[in-house]
Amino acid sequence: MNILIMRDYNEISRQAALLVAASIALKPNLVLGLPTGRTPIRMYKELVVIYKNGFVNFSDVVTFNIDEYIGLPRENPNSFYSYMHNNFFRHINIKKENIHIPNGMAKDIKKECVRYENLIRKKGPIDLMILGIGYNGHIGFNEPSDEFIPETHVEVLTERTRMANSRYFGSLAKVPSEAITMGLGTIMHSKKIILLASGRDKAETILRAVKGNITPRFPASILRLHRDCTFILDRDAAGLIKKK
Ligand code: F6R
Repeated sequence: MNILIMRDYNEISRQAALLVAASIALKPNLVLGLPTGRTPIRMYKELVVIYKNGFVNFSDVVTFNIDEYIGLPRENPNSFYSYMHNNFFRHINIKKENIHIPNGMAKDIKKECVRYENLIRKKGPIDLMILGIGYNGHIGFNEPSDEFIPETHVEVLTERTRMANSRYFGSLAKVPSEAITMGLGTIMHSKKIILLASGRDKAETILRAVKGNITPRFPASILRLHRDCTFILDRDAAGLIKKK
């Protein structure tokens, strides 16, 4: 695993955006795995700027979002569908048919998981997967568990994750209790993985991901077994690994 430590949130975002743009320049039909959340927002903004300056072309890029809440309609401002369109897709020249996000409103959620997994297999593997990390080590919505679950599946969100995400919903009660997420096998099959983390509140999490046991009780630890995974961290998020 490689670790890149940069000055601050702006720098890690710019670095990640440049890496995505360079990957698209090398492979215009790049298959890109994408997260939501607080961390990647600035990376998306930077990518939009790079696009508007004419330095990246998304017309053949294919995207797969890593997760989506179950039971939130697309048009709900807290759905990951809304997040992705508001922060990124509507500002770039990506084709609608190349955007893939799990449908958390599907009548048969289990079937939807199978459909999504098969689609990734058909169009994939994912060339470049961008990840954030939850305080409890979750990636996508793969929460701490007794086993690494390989494929796209339904995940019951932990109290800690729902608390962290309640900042967007106004109250804990409004945060959905379940989500569809890519599994850890699907993530690990990506050719290249970039994980972004920023802020002192992620330092303990990063320490565990980098130096703790490899265990499904801390899902991000599995990334240490990937042959091309880079953590891009700001100084605050890297604060504890630098000291120890
Ligand atoms: C969301 C996702 C999650 C987030 C994680 C960190 O699509 O994949 O794993 O990356 O919860 O979220 P932030 O960036 O808000 O701290």
